[in-house]
Amino acid sequence: MAAAAALAPALRRSLGRPRGGFGGAPRPWPAVGGAPRPRSTGAGPDGINKAVVDRIIRVDHAGEYGANRIYAGQMAVLGRSAVGPVIQQMWNQEKDHLKKFNELMIAYRVRPTVLLPFWNVAGFVLGAGSALLGKKGAMACTVAVEESISDHYNSQIRTLMEEDPEKYKELLQMIKQFRDDEREHHDIGLEHDAEGAPAYSVLKTVIQLGCKAAIFLSERI
Ligand SMILES: [Fe+2]
Ligand SMILES: [Fe+2]
Repeated sequence: MAAAAALAPALRRSLGRPRGGFGGAPRPWPAVGGAPRPRSTGAGPDGINKAVVDRIIRVDHAGEYGANRIYAGQMAVLGRSAVGPVIQQMWNQEKDHLKKFNELMIAYRVRPTVLLPFWNVAGFVLGAGSALLGKKGAMACTVAVEESISDHYNSQIRTLMEEDPEKYKELLQMIKQFRDDEREHHDIGLEHDAEGAPAYSVLKTVIQLGCKAAIFLSERI
């Protein structure tokens, strides 16, 4: 309880300066996956399925935003512990993922989910809360979240492959790269004794239900 109270200032500080918000120079296409293409007026590059791409970018942006907040929460608790550098390394990759989706939102003129302020707080609380269970708790959270995100990326890869692999080549390449990064984070969690966390399977199930709900909502609103 005292530890939770001590975290309140860290949460307030981090809320004041959202990480990887909506800044950055607009780019017609992401830096990942090749040369920029020209942008058509209004709805992004010609010939794309705008509804599908909007949904993918909105939910992925929300997911990467939430992942950043989770790692911020974990670092607020465990940043100075032995596992701090491991968490920081994963967080750095999430910052890069979020930056890419920020760029895509501008390129495709996609609005973020209205739930972003909620994910801001919920992500931090989940990260800090799991870290308060100790290193294993934080890693259990990482395993649960990263497994959900990499499964989610896999389903998007299938969707885009069915739509048109050539047309979505660059987006596919980026999502595959991020999927690989999330899998690596998942494996790092397991290597750091995630399964030794208290009530590991309950914790994992609850967190993954939360992830499913977050994905469902962020695709729609
Ligand atoms: Fe990520
Ligand atoms: Fe990740």
